[in-house]
This record gives sequence, structure tokens and C-alpha cells, in this order.
Amino acid sequence: MLTKSLKGRDFISLRDFSKQEIITILETALALKTDLAMGRKHKLLDGKTLFMLFFNASTRTRNSFESGIFQLGGHGNFLQPSATRLPTLEGEDVPYKTERISDVARVLSGMGDAIAIRILGDAVNWSYDKGLRIIKEFAKWATIPVINMEDNIYHPCQGMADVMTMWELFGRDLRGLKLGVTWTYSGSTKKPIAPHHDVMYAASFFGANIIYTKPPELRIDPEIEKAIKENVEANGGTYQTSDNIEDAFVDADIVYGKNHVCLDLLPPFQKEPKFDEMAKLFDKYKDWIVNEKYMKLAKSQSKYMHCLPCERGMEVTDEVMDGPQAAVWMEAENRLHAQKAIMALTM
Ligand code: CP
Repeated sequence: MLTKSLKGRDFISLRDFSKQEIITILETALALKTDLAMGRKHKLLDGKTLFMLFFNASTRTRNSFESGIFQLGGHGNFLQPSATRLPTLEGEDVPYKTERISDVARVLSGMGDAIAIRILGDAVNWSYDKGLRIIKEFAKWATIPVINMEDNIYHPCQGMADVMTMWELFGRDLRGLKLGVTWTYSGSTKKPIAPHHDVMYAASFFGANIIYTKPPELRIDPEIEKAIKENVEANGGTYQTSDNIEDAFVDADIVYGKNHVCLDLLPPFQKEPKFDEMAKLFDKYKDWIVNEKYMKLAKSQSKYMHCLPCERGMEVTDEVMDGPQAAVWMEAENRLHAQKAIMALTM
């Protein structure tokens, strides 16, 4: 019954899905992971094509989608904007250089079975919601499911893989589990905030006690923060913030430590992105790093998570990344299983 309800659905934001639908996807992902390990092959998407439109670089997302659709019997077609005509919104047309999204979406709908899109950051001149608007424009015109491979606001596939990893490590009921999500330093001022949004939003369905720590000048999107608060309240968890990095570690079961941009130095809060100012701000907080000293404050069985790619020596030390507490490899692998579930259920 639930599986039927997901067929044909777009996968753009976790906020479009009920807790039960999220559980269905996670259970499917775990079953597909077990079956792969046991050598049981499922050609659930035999003869089907996934178009993968990447406006930004990727290692995990591209390879997990491409391997995933192949393992399910289908084909992943990698599309780079530089090798096609740029799909654009109305009003942004350049003769014979661009093609309206309304037209591209309908053309691809006649040739394949889903369209996956990554578009954020430089690809949209740091307009906060433009990537999401473009993905939604594809969904408006496509007659096949559209999957969000990350925009400036959401990274729903990452959120699913993150919670799948938590389930495997700590069980399905995350009530009582402390998830410390912290901002960390990076030498880059372009690292997305979407993974922070979706790891906390996804975990909020399962009653985790979430704390988000960051320097005082930083914050997540207040609308998403509100949604996380509502969700934890409905599911038996808590949500707090702190300007002290140590609060993310003390007695934590999971520490998710990663850099993200300063929203207040980007549009719509600024006319143009203020990256120089952001770099100066970040430089004040070089000691915001996941290291062994901080990890000792967490529970002895605690795990470190990061969506990757990480900046070693800036966001996290080699000792933690290469140590027994790192769950990052499992987390990265789970992108494959989570996305196979998303594709199998929606396509
Ligand atoms: N975590 C993640 O989305 O990785 P990529 O940017 O390599 O796809």
C-alpha cells in the first residue's frame, strides 16, 4: 500500500514525506543492502534510465546513483551542463545556448524514467532558493519522478543515508540518543549547509536529542529549524543550540562535525556573496575542529559522521577520520543503498 503511494513521486525534500514513508524507504534500503551482500540480484529497474544532471562536482552522489541504477538493471545517463544546452527558467533564454526547463523536462520524460538534479552554490550565483526553484520547475513539467541530488537548502538523499547509518549503529528508535551536530572550520567558504539541515530533519523523526553548535555569527535556516523543533516535539526528542563546540561532544552518541557557509553573508541577506568577510569570520574559529580531545568528551562507543568530502586538518583530524569512531565510510556507502531504495520505490 505504502509502496504504491511512492510510485511516481518526486523526491525533492524530506519535508514532502511522512514519517511512515521515510520508514518505508529506509526499510527498503536495508533490505537491498542485505540482498546485495548475499548476492541476491534485483532487476527492479530493468531497462529504465535515470538522467543525472550535475551542475556541480560530485564523487559520492554521482557514483552511488550510477552504481545503484546499474545494480537494479537500469542505466544512468550522466549529463553535464557544459556538454548540453543549459536548462534555464523563463526569462533567462540565450538563443541556441540555453533550453527552457519546460522543454528539456518533457523531452527527457519521453526517453527515460527519472531525472536527478544537483544544482547549488556557484551554479546559481549563490541565490539561496534558485537551485530548488529549478528542480521544482523540472518537476512541474516532467511526467517522470524528479530526484534532488542537492540544492542550497536540501540534500535529502544524504539525510536518508545518515539516518540509515544511525539505525544500523544504534537501532531504529533514536529516543535518548544524543546527536551533536557542529559547525567546524574550513579553508573553503563554499561548503553547503544542506547536509546540516537534512541530517537534523531526518533524525528528528526518530526522537533523537539534537544539539547544534556553531559560532555565534552562524545559524541554519530558521524555517528548517522550526520544522526540526516541531518534529522532535512530535517524536519524543529535543533540539537545542549552543555557541560552545564542547556541547556537541559531551555525552554524545554521534558527533556530526562539518563546515557550512554563513547564511547571513549570502543572498538574500546580502546583495552579493561576501566571501572575503566569511573567510575572515571563519579564521576566528580555526579551533572548531573534530579532534581526539573533543571526542573524549563523547561516550566511549560514540561515532563520528560527516557527509564527505571533508577537509582533513581543518574540519576533522586524521586521527578521528582514520580512527575507530569514524562511521563516515559506512555513511558514504549507505548513499548507494538509500538511493537504490528511493529509485526502486519512485521509478
Ligand atoms: N556527500 C556528497 O554529496 O558527496 P559528493 O559531493 O561527492 O556527491
